Amino acid sequence: MSIYSASTTAPVNIATLKYWGKRDKVLNLPTNSSISVTLSQEDLRTLTTATTSPDFAKDQLWLNGKEESLASERTQHCLQDLRQLRRELEEKDSSLPTFSQWKLHIASENNFPTAAGLASSAAGFAALIKAIAKLYELPQSESELSKIARKGSGSACRSLFGGYVAWEMGKLEDGSDSKAVEIGSLNHWPEMKAAILVVSADKKDTPSTSGMQLTVKTSDLFQERINNVVPKRFEQMKKSILEKDFPTFAELTMKDSNSFHATCLDSYPPIFYLNDTSKKVIKLCHAINEFYNETVVAYTFDAGPNAVLYYLEQSEDKLFAFLYHLFQNVSGWESKFTKEQLSQFNAKFDEIKDDVSFYLD
Ligand code: DP6
Repeated sequence: MSIYSASTTAPVNIATLKYWGKRDKVLNLPTNSSISVTLSQEDLRTLTTATTSPDFAKDQLWLNGKEESLASERTQHCLQDLRQLRRELEEKDSSLPTFSQWKLHIASENNFPTAAGLASSAAGFAALIKAIAKLYELPQSESELSKIARKGSGSACRSLFGGYVAWEMGKLEDGSDSKAVEIGSLNHWPEMKAAILVVSADKKDTPSTSGMQLTVKTSDLFQERINNVVPKRFEQMKKSILEKDFPTFAELTMKDSNSFHATCLDSYPPIFYLNDTSKKVIKLCHAINEFYNETVVAYTFDAGPNAVLYYLEQSEDKLFAFLYHLFQNVSGWESKFTKEQLSQFNAKFDEIKDDVSFYLD
């Protein structure tokens, strides 16, 4: 029997300017443009293999070895679009095998534990689209394919690229201008690092899709956010990335996370994604920046309590001095600080410890 297959990976992306709100639910068109920093592929990625054969009886999907349903409307939408593009190629060149009529077997695997509490749907949909596009030998660019990934999950469109990515909301009703574009590759600003603080690995309270719909419908603050706050911030954040201006990038990132969570609280009934520990992490980051009198770290939180911290490689020791002090059971870190610096740092820690003390097991 003839079998054809293709494999590819897609990275997890974390938004530094959040997508929150849809203007069209079926096409997944957002109410604002967003920006993400896509983490290194070695650490957090989905690996997907798409296989097709005239002998397969039905479309099937395995996630981390377990069979899952492909029935969701969103997934079906993506498969239809990809098959349509393949059909167009087959119509132009009759020597091509008729993949568009054959069933698909898709196997996907994450290299990070599901318990890390990271949204895996973005990398998952992006890898699915990329693997099938590769199998079908589609000529479409990443930006074009991002429009298909967008229909699977909004944030997935940004995982078509590595590095610094913008999802331009677009203006058109058919969504043909709502796509991801690269602001800069990972190499543009390779000093940028991210640390993930897992506050809770529990499933999130309110799924993003229904959460954002409630916010659009009920929050007054949300209107202010999409009309007056985000458009300006989008341009400022792009500029800070292009100019590698970490203090500005960090401030915008923290403010945008806070603004997004404020609209969640302003929804009715309110949505709470941050918990008490998340709030301590926020306080800690501000205390660290104040202690050094320099912007060392930025935090951002998605639709859950876990923190993603951004920092520059050269500041790693400064940040980790605090983190390791808090998470005492982490081994393998040796302080490069002088005794005097450590005693200053301990004094600062004593000052804030009631606010930030918490434990990881
Ligand atoms: C808070 O992309 O998961 O992570 O389009 O409904 O699938 P759907 O939502 P999703 O929402 C992500 C929300 C966010 C912010 C972001 O990633 O920009």
